[in-house]
Amino acid sequence: MLTITKANSFRGEMKIPGDKSISHRSIMLGALADGDTDVTDFLESADCLSTIDCFSRLGVFVERDFSHPGHLIVHGCGMEGLHPSFHTVALYTGNSGTTTRILSGILAPQRFVSLVSGDESVNKRPMNRVITPLRQMGARIESMNDDGCAPLEITGTSLRGISYVSPVASAQVKSAILLAGLYADGTTTVTEPSPSRDHTERMLRAFGADVDVGGNSVSVHHTEHLTPIKIQVPGDISSAAYFIAAAAIVPESEVLLRHVGINPTRDGILRVAKAMGADVTLLNETDDAEPCADILVRSSCLHGTKIGGDLIPTLIDELPVVAVMAACAEGTTVIKDAAELRVKESDRIRAMTEGLTAMGCDVTGTEDGMIIHGGKALRGAQIHTYADHRIAMSFAVAGLIADGETVLDDESCVRISYPTFFQDLKALEQ
Ligand code: S3P
Repeated sequence: MLTITKANSFRGEMKIPGDKSISHRSIMLGALADGDTDVTDFLESADCLSTIDCFSRLGVFVERDFSHPGHLIVHGCGMEGLHPSFHTVALYTGNSGTTTRILSGILAPQRFVSLVSGDESVNKRPMNRVITPLRQMGARIESMNDDGCAPLEITGTSLRGISYVSPVASAQVKSAILLAGLYADGTTTVTEPSPSRDHTERMLRAFGADVDVGGNSVSVHHTEHLTPIKIQVPGDISSAAYFIAAAAIVPESEVLLRHVGINPTRDGILRVAKAMGADVTLLNETDDAEPCADILVRSSCLHGTKIGGDLIPTLIDELPVVAVMAACAEGTTVIKDAAELRVKESDRIRAMTEGLTAMGCDVTGTEDGMIIHGGKALRGAQIHTYADHRIAMSFAVAGLIADGETVLDDESCVRISYPTFFQDLKALEQ
């Protein structure tokens, strides 16, 4: 349990921890490369440590530099260098849907059998979205309880390239297929309804793979070798989102967030914050493998907006905290086309609707989103986080402007993506 109280203002400068999606991929692609990939600003959170653990058990030495947190070297074994894991019954992916799904794509073409299982939440999340396309490629992959969820049994076999039209915009699905596609005969193409985050494509190119992008489609070709690189992981815009929201809604605030990734497939929070009237300025923009900037946010009066369509994949993980901003904004905010929120670490539409209602906000959950009539003062309440890190962090932000005490039933879940979140929040509170 953790109690949050009202903040007077929110001021200062900070470095946001490394991007979770890019950290996972730096281990996965580094593992398959011929030699050493040097990673700095790696996110040392529970999810990314699950990825390190899985690849360690597959025979990849990930050397952590404990005197420099976030620095590690992935001693890649090459495309054919993974070994079966003998140590435990299953490769344990913890709470990480990203590890579970993308790893399945990497394991499908190996020469051995693997079992993949996560925690209670991961083992309830839909895996047919990767099982179906991987089977079309020839993969032998079974949901062990026959419920379309993990645990998964993956019997490695040779694969063929396919052209797959995905019903969901999901970077996890796209990445699982593309990484399996590196091993498949011919060309593998994934087409999405809207473009999802493109970190895998960018990183594959940097590792020397041949990747073609056109419209909402991405193709890879059979690849024998990946060349190791140096990766500096940018700050995670999904983590920055809590500070953007806090600075926007707490009066008299001014916060500078340094070196945050602003990849256009991830920057929906910036676009929506600005559409709501937030005072957000980008400084020191750079455009390397992943575009980055410092983000300056000052408090302002927010107003409601409409969020849907192609914008949704660019801010899917930020929608819980956007709902908090909407509760503080004058007028109505409508979030639609976001049914994916129901199958995240928790049903985030339900969790946000319940918590915001308890805090006195007028909010209705819909099948694929929320309708929020903002502008009423929020009051502190008991919040059920459903052990979901993004729900806990969103209500910690709501608690900063609520009257009275906001009590989170589980604050430890922030370790999944942002272990130092509460210390960092405290440091900026005045
Ligand atoms: C992620 C993709 C998104 C996102 C998740 C991380 C990734 O999930 O919600 O937190 O790193 O590929 P989906 O692929 O299910 O949209």
